[in-house]
Amino acid sequence: MEDNETIKTIKERRAIRDYDTERDVSDELIHRIIEAGTYAPSAENQQPWRIIVVRDKEVQEFIGQIAVDRTVLLFGRATPREELERRLGYIRSKVSLERTIDILISGERFEYIKGKKETFGAPVLLVLAIDQTHVGNSQETLRGTGGVYGWSSPRHGVIAGSMMMQNMTLAAASLGLGSCVSSVQLDHFDDVGEISKRLGIPFPHWTPILCLTVGYAKHERTLGPPRQAPEEVTFLNQWGEPFSPKEGGK
Ligand SMILES: Cc1cc2nc3c(=O)[nH]c(=O)nc-3n(C[C@H](O)[C@H](O)[C@H](O)COP(=O)(O)O)c2cc1C
Repeated sequence: MEDNETIKTIKERRAIRDYDTERDVSDELIHRIIEAGTYAPSAENQQPWRIIVVRDKEVQEFIGQIAVDRTVLLFGRATPREELERRLGYIRSKVSLERTIDILISGERFEYIKGKKETFGAPVLLVLAIDQTHVGNSQETLRGTGGVYGWSSPRHGVIAGSMMMQNMTLAAASLGLGSCVSSVQLDHFDDVGEISKRLGIPFPHWTPILCLTVGYAKHERTLGPPRQAPEEVTFLNQWGEPFSPKEGGK
């Protein structure tokens, strides 16, 4: 069966880390992407998300530098080289493998978050914050279905926020835009605090969890890192039981 447009968009979306710095993205397009994001499901329709659209180059640089510094610590210092080689084993060419390791351990790989022309940065950076109190309908603007006190948990905020993020990446791809989800600058408690302070996010009630760079890709890219086949990640009825529709399934 041939893939329909939706499935094609899902499969062809790639993490884009080099942007065409001659092309800006209009607020109208950003609005459409965020609007698509807001159609994501959320527990009790609580919509526990806020987005900050960052166009300010200084703020982009501030957030990007935190990503670069954290990457140097994680990949450059904490991760043994053999482990990096093992994880990147799918890269066949020795030259590409060396280059990928270099840009990881030097933090260069995450320069794009800074939005600078010299490093083909993205014109727009979206910061997603989620409601971490998330108990009942705590939001004034909520037009949801009504909260049940004590039922929702902070975990729901993370889950719903992630689904919103996926909607936005797919919407961007469907509009011919490149994007990249990033979290390395928000994985460490100190970094989350610093970024919240700079953006005025009322942390920890609202907690930034992910960023999304958006822009036009410098190079078209549809091939990504390999995926496991459904047969490798799926069981039928019970853990360990193969699910293989091609061999005698329905
Ligand atoms: C939760 C999450 C965190 C991620 N963090 C980063 C990040 O900090 N920096 C980055 O460049 N990419 C980040 N990515 C993008 C992944 O590296 C990328 O999606 C993955 O390698 C698969 O490549 P593809 O999106 O091109 O298929 C993140 C993706 C997710 C879902």
